[in-house]
Parts: sequence; structure tokens; C-alpha cells
Amino acid sequence: MKSLDVCLSPELLHLFPIKDRSVVIADILRATSCMVTAFAHGVKAIKPYASLEGCRNSKQPGIFIAGERNGLKVEGFDLGNSPFEYMAPELKGTVIHMTTTNGTQAIEKSAGGSAIFIGSFLNLSALADVLIKENRDVLIVCAGWKGKVNLEDTLFAGALAHLLSSHYNFECDAPLIAEAVYLQAKNDLTEAVSQASHTRRLNRLNIFKDISFCLTPDQYPVVPCLQNGYITLPG
Ligand code: MLT
Repeated sequence: MKSLDVCLSPELLHLFPIKDRSVVIADILRATSCMVTAFAHGVKAIKPYASLEGCRNSKQPGIFIAGERNGLKVEGFDLGNSPFEYMAPELKGTVIHMTTTNGTQAIEKSAGGSAIFIGSFLNLSALADVLIKENRDVLIVCAGWKGKVNLEDTLFAGALAHLLSSHYNFECDAPLIAEAVYLQAKNDLTEAVSQASHTRRLNRLNIFKDISFCLTPDQYPVVPCLQNGYITLPG
């Protein structure tokens, strides 16, 4: 049986073998939820940038640039980081260059995995199906907040680990912890994260509806993955 592990913060990535693994990046509030929503609404490709200035300087005609820092859209960027922005019809068929506080950093730090998938509650079951078909060991990388562990990404890791538990052995304790937290919270995920640090941070910015949306499982059957520096839908 293949193995599954959870890295609760990118700061712990050096402890995990990543080569030959299917890596899942989770930044539930809100980077990977935005990416999944974007592809579900016809966006063609997303190029992730860890560097804010690198992303800003990549602007060119026909390319949208998306920038978020500390929950806010960065001045001078076309898009911020609410999933509702990525439902816009005018984004269909376009390429977006994106940088966020944690999500795109986690993607950059996870380079080296055989396949890097974008995970969220929104595409939870579709992602689980793809991972089973890929039949590689799995590492779920939680983006966290500036190196710290956060609740929403851990809940997602637990939900995915639980879905995969009959197909994978849990390698260490983080999958057990994440699954236990998820099973306690699964009947009302929005309530479960109501006191989470990033929920409170977003609420202070008058951002409310993003949270319940990003915590709603199986809204979109798309599984974006990173290939040659661009996140796209396979095929
Ligand atoms: C992140 O990168 O941590 C998130 O995207 C932040 C946010 O969108 O609020």
C-alpha cells in the first residue's frame, strides 16, 4: 500500500522526502480555493510567483496579475484573492500570474515532487480520485500562515487523508492528528474555523462569505496541477 503524510507547515518540508511523490498544496483561505474556482470557470493557466515584485513585473498585455498580501489585494494588481473574483466571465481562457502570502510560497517550496496538485475543499473528491489513479506516495503540504500551522489547511489535510485512508498507510502522526480534527469538525466546518486566526483576520477586513464558500466540499470536479512552471488542467 502506498503511504500518505502531512506537512503541517512549509517550514517542516525539509523533514519530508518529496521526490517521486504526488504533492498536494493546500491553502484553503484562500489561494488554492481561488485557483480551483478559476479553473472551474475556464481560466487557461495560472503562473505562481513567490515574489510580489516578480509577479508585478511580469505584467504584460493579455496577462492578468493577481496579488494578495495579508488578506488584501495589492495595489496595482488586477485581482486579489477572493474566489468570487475568479468566477468572472472575462477571465475565461486567460492566463493569470498570481502571488499570495502563503499559497504561492508553499508551491515554490514544494518543487521537486513528481506531480504537484492544487487541493481545496472545493475539489476534494475529484482530487482524491486523481491521487488514487496516480498511485504514488502522497504528501499534503499545508501552506499555513507565515510558517505557522493553521486550522483550515489542517482540516483539509484531515478530510483528504480520511478519504484516502482505505488506500494509503499514514506515515507519521500528522495525518492521524489532521484526520481526528477533521472528524470532530466535519458536520460544520465553517463553525469549526470561526475562531481561527485567518478567519478573524479576514473578518476584520470585512471578508465573510469567502470563508463558508472555501469550506464547502465538492463544488468543482477540476484538479489543477503544476507543470513547467504553470498550473493548468491536465489534457
Ligand atoms: C495565503 O496565501 O495565505 C492566502 O491566500 C491569504 C488570503 O487569501 O487571505
